[in-house]
Amino acid sequence: MTVPTLESLRIITVIGAGTMGHGIAQISAMSGANVRLQDALSGGARAGIERIAKNLAKGVELGKVSSEDRDATLARITAFEDLQRACEGADCVIEAVPEQLDLKREIFATVDRATPPHALLATNTSSLPISEIADVVGDAGRLVGMHFFNPVHVMKLVEIVRHARSNPAAVALAVALAEKLGKTPITVADSPGFASSRLGLVIGLEAMRMVEQQVASPADIDTAMKLGYGHPMGPLELTDLVGLDVRLGIAEYLSTAIGPAFTPPQVLRDKVAAGKLGKKTGEGFYRWSADGKRS
Ligand SMILES: NC(=O)c1ccc[n+]([C@@H]2O[C@H](COP(=O)([O-])OP(=O)(O)OC[C@H]3O[C@@H](n4cnc5c(N)ncnc54)[C@H](O)[C@@H]3O)[C@@H](O)[C@H]2O)c1
Repeated sequence: MTVPTLESLRIITVIGAGTMGHGIAQISAMSGANVRLQDALSGGARAGIERIAKNLAKGVELGKVSSEDRDATLARITAFEDLQRACEGADCVIEAVPEQLDLKREIFATVDRATPPHALLATNTSSLPISEIADVVGDAGRLVGMHFFNPVHVMKLVEIVRHARSNPAAVALAVALAEKLGKTPITVADSPGFASSRLGLVIGLEAMRMVEQQVASPADIDTAMKLGYGHPMGPLELTDLVGLDVRLGIAEYLSTAIGPAFTPPQVLRDKVAAGKLGKKTGEGFYRWSADGKRS
């Protein structure tokens, strides 16, 4: 990999236009890059752009974004359905598809063939081994983890994950990109759950076990962590925001990779099986109205 400079990262492709992908596309376009937002679901990328437009409209309403910046940001984003086309000529690809190792490997095999050799490749996985994703990339060194947080346009942290074969220049470029996107990067090793998911999930899963054991209501458990420990959001409300399906996927992986502390509680399995995935479906540990308020 001839590592490009930060300034030459002009075309950024974001794969997956869901909760995370639309946010990554938004901040990338706000930083001045031309963004291709790709989703395999028909109309998925368009829906992602509509979510970005809503976020920006809110920003304008709050006086945080000018209407010129809103218009310029939206003009820099293009929707794609075809992965190959979305990757051709890209300087950087950031993947945010569901947390399934096989799916991510399949996508990066195509990304590897479709992108120019200089392109920086990043996965937004919350927990999966970066090295196993990098195995499908000819030059494995150009792939790194770039773990953003939800909601992407608000949360400051990005975990940059380096694996054994990472090219240090690619890691440094990912750090610089995160900073350019207005984030504070930390660099962590390719260890299951990295720093944030591993620690965050322990608290989230224990809170769910406490709901099962009727120790306290979800609202009271969340209040305990907010007022007792200064967390801005309680672990169950956070689970609703992240998505119960997303947290279940991470817990299943970490329970095999680290141990039984991460065994998914039955209440989590039951809610996911019932389609109660959190804010995105209107119900998780709380009920949510269509305008995103907790009821
Ligand atoms: N939700 C969170 O709070 C959060 C936080 C940090 C990291 N992550 C990670 O980000 C990734 C995405 O999570 P999410 O919550 O945005 O998921 P999501 O389900 O909201 O979005 C995933 C998107 O990917 C699309 N997709 C599915 N298969 C595809 C394919 N083959 N090609 C292109 N697009 C495809 C889906 O249509 C959907 O729009 C996961 O790895 C997750 O672990 C999530």
